[in-house]
Amino acid sequence: MASQDRFLLAGVMGYPVMHSRSPKLHNYWFEKHGLLGTYVPLAIQPDGLLAALRALPALGFAGCNITVPHKIAAMEAMATIDPMAVRIGAINCVTVQKDGSLHGTNNDGFGYLESVRERFADWRADAGPIVVLGAGGGARAVVAALADAGAPEIRLINRSRDKAEGIARDYGAPVVVHDWAQRAEALDGAAMLVNTTSLGMHGQPPLEIALDRLPTQAVVSDIVYIPKETDLLAAARKRGNRTVNGLGMLLNQARPAFQSWFGVLPEVTPELRAMIEASIPA
Ligand code: ATR
Repeated sequence: MASQDRFLLAGVMGYPVMHSRSPKLHNYWFEKHGLLGTYVPLAIQPDGLLAALRALPALGFAGCNITVPHKIAAMEAMATIDPMAVRIGAINCVTVQKDGSLHGTNNDGFGYLESVRERFADWRADAGPIVVLGAGGGARAVVAALADAGAPEIRLINRSRDKAEGIARDYGAPVVVHDWAQRAEALDGAAMLVNTTSLGMHGQPPLEIALDRLPTQAVVSDIVYIPKETDLLAAARKRGNRTVNGLGMLLNQARPAFQSWFGVLPEVTPELRAMIEASIPA
């Protein structure tokens, strides 16, 4: 164990927050890297958010993650915000700077791309059109990351079309909006399908979509990770598509967060993945 002059602290602010797997994974990395520290769930109600964020430097926290429902509201307490997070319109990570000011970033898009690349080393964003379902915070991060990675055409489809149009306005090309009712047709010739809606998540209705028109070479991914295999992923796997669930996004978005707080870029090891998977209901 390296000698340290203080105990390292980080956490996740959310409400509710007890379901978060982040403490498990950051605490694994503290141990793996021989660092004395801890990462705690911080159950912060919306009316206490700004005070809690402003208390981080005084408490000696290196920073924290931000989760539902605070990803937009937390921006107000930041002295600086990374351009990618500004583009997404939300932050999921706060780092306390040397002068005590707060810097906001959003690592969800990075986590998403890494999760696909770690599964399929040959995957390329520019392989063909990509269909993205949903237009919430998850979609904003995924679409920004795919566009930056070179996606030539992103067919964005959301139940509430105006929200998809808002993203298309903000991001411009390559985003094109299609109707929710036409989601099966939009799969024609697609190289990838991504579900960022909450449909298919444990306790939510399933995502209903006919996959017949989707080429079998296409990658199908779901940012949902509870359950591990959504009905969408099971149906895609059965017809021969390669699939990626949302766990890799969670694991990989945490890597740059840990690095920005503690100066070490940690790895998603098979052991870590297995440990987190074991904590998720089938
Ligand atoms: P997040 O920030 O995690 O992406 P969100 O902002 O609540 O979550 O977005 C949830 C997404 O799931 C939205 O795209 C939502 O569609 P609407 O914008 O039309 O609400 C989508 N969604 C949730 N329930 C749905 C349903 N029953 N049918 C279709 N889409 C649904």
